[in-house]
Amino acid sequence: MATWQPSSWREFPAAQQPDWPSRELADEVVDEVRSQPPLVFAGEARRLREALAQVAVGKAFCLQAGDCAESFHEHSAIAIRERLKVILQMSAVMTYAASVPVVRMGRMAGQFMKPRSSPTEKIGDLEIPSFRGHMVNSEEETAEARIPDPTRMLRAYNQAASTLNLLRAFTKGGFADLSQVHVWNQEFVAAAPEGRRYEQIAGEIDRALAFMAACGVDMHNSALHQVDIWTCHEGLLLDYEEALTRRDSLTGDWYDCSAHMLWIGERTRQPDGAHAEFFSGVHNPIGVKLGPAATSEQVLELCQRLNPEKIPGRLTLITRMGAKQVEQKLPPILTAVRDAGHPVVWICDPMHANTFTTESGRKTRRFTDIMTEIEGFFAAHAAEGTWPGGVHLEITGGDVTECLGGGEKLSEEKLEEAYQTLCDPRLNARQSLDLAFHLAELMRR
Ligand code: PEP
Ligand code: CO
Repeated sequence: MATWQPSSWREFPAAQQPDWPSRELADEVVDEVRSQPPLVFAGEARRLREALAQVAVGKAFCLQAGDCAESFHEHSAIAIRERLKVILQMSAVMTYAASVPVVRMGRMAGQFMKPRSSPTEKIGDLEIPSFRGHMVNSEEETAEARIPDPTRMLRAYNQAASTLNLLRAFTKGGFADLSQVHVWNQEFVAAAPEGRRYEQIAGEIDRALAFMAACGVDMHNSALHQVDIWTCHEGLLLDYEEALTRRDSLTGDWYDCSAHMLWIGERTRQPDGAHAEFFSGVHNPIGVKLGPAATSEQVLELCQRLNPEKIPGRLTLITRMGAKQVEQKLPPILTAVRDAGHPVVWICDPMHANTFTTESGRKTRRFTDIMTEIEGFFAAHAAEGTWPGGVHLEITGGDVTECLGGGEKLSEEKLEEAYQTLCDPRLNARQSLDLAFHLAELMRR
């Protein structure tokens, strides 16, 4: 460990990295990013680690949600605010219904690169390189648009900076004030059954606040007026992550200052690979995705590699087994990690193993499969005596039609109406709120 450097990963096999046409230009851009200020501060990452340590011991719950792939085309204040509203609504429902604090992490301000199962895709008769997220190439369906362009790293940095700036303004400047609980209900949601159910809870929160004030409780407490929304993304593009890795002046430790929390994806979690090497040396809280092929041995090796000192809150395991496999695949991993004494946070990603393509060619997910995986996750933890620490979701604040079902019973034909995602299908605002109500019921049990 003494020899670890932000660039040590370069000696290890790095999966899913773009083949920049000019390494020289890529190095210039990396230098430029390196000369920019950090996006987050080490002390914030430590605070998040402490919050996650509370999740690890069963005293809090975690909501990790946001876009599958953030877009360079969609960067309005409105889009950011609407997504934030859904996260605030969901966490209000969960906190209120289950009386458990919720740690909120947004897949925001940095979620610009995607791992792909195949390096190319077929468009008609043409085979072109796959879209890898706006930090790397364009989603346009031409071979030229798919050529990796390293200058996109700088644009991603700038967009992340301004997104984070607005997030901080909203969450610290009054928008996330509990007295605004009604404002978070968007018009198109408010008219729907989920929205009405939310209004009821919002009304109860109002009354609880009024009651506390009448009792003489000091209502200036910042917990009522500000919230923390931590940022996170998949730490996939190591050129970019390395460039934002800085040594903390207080502790001398290295932190990846591109986000508060970062995770390693299912396709890049090899214990002897470049991603494990890179993240073993930064001190942020980190996560690892675990799909149905993960074995207990691999998981224990990753725990050892990424958190040898067993620091609570340092490591989150994000399981994504699929609705059909969760019951069978998850329990052995839970017991192995529990018995080895690793204090991990367990989070369920019910999205990524439940994706399928409809006959008309739309990638989608069923709300029922998503709920089935979450229920299987809770059941497995109940059986093993471990804490089901949270969920990891792909959502948007918009009125999109990308996932099937939910309270609005979104049908396959409807997918054509507002299918807008750059990559994976996301829950819309109503489906997200619907999910929060179901989740709150599971949490209360
Ligand atoms: C993702 O989170 O968008 C993703 C690609 O997940 P996974 O690594 O689990 O496939
Ligand atoms: Co995704």
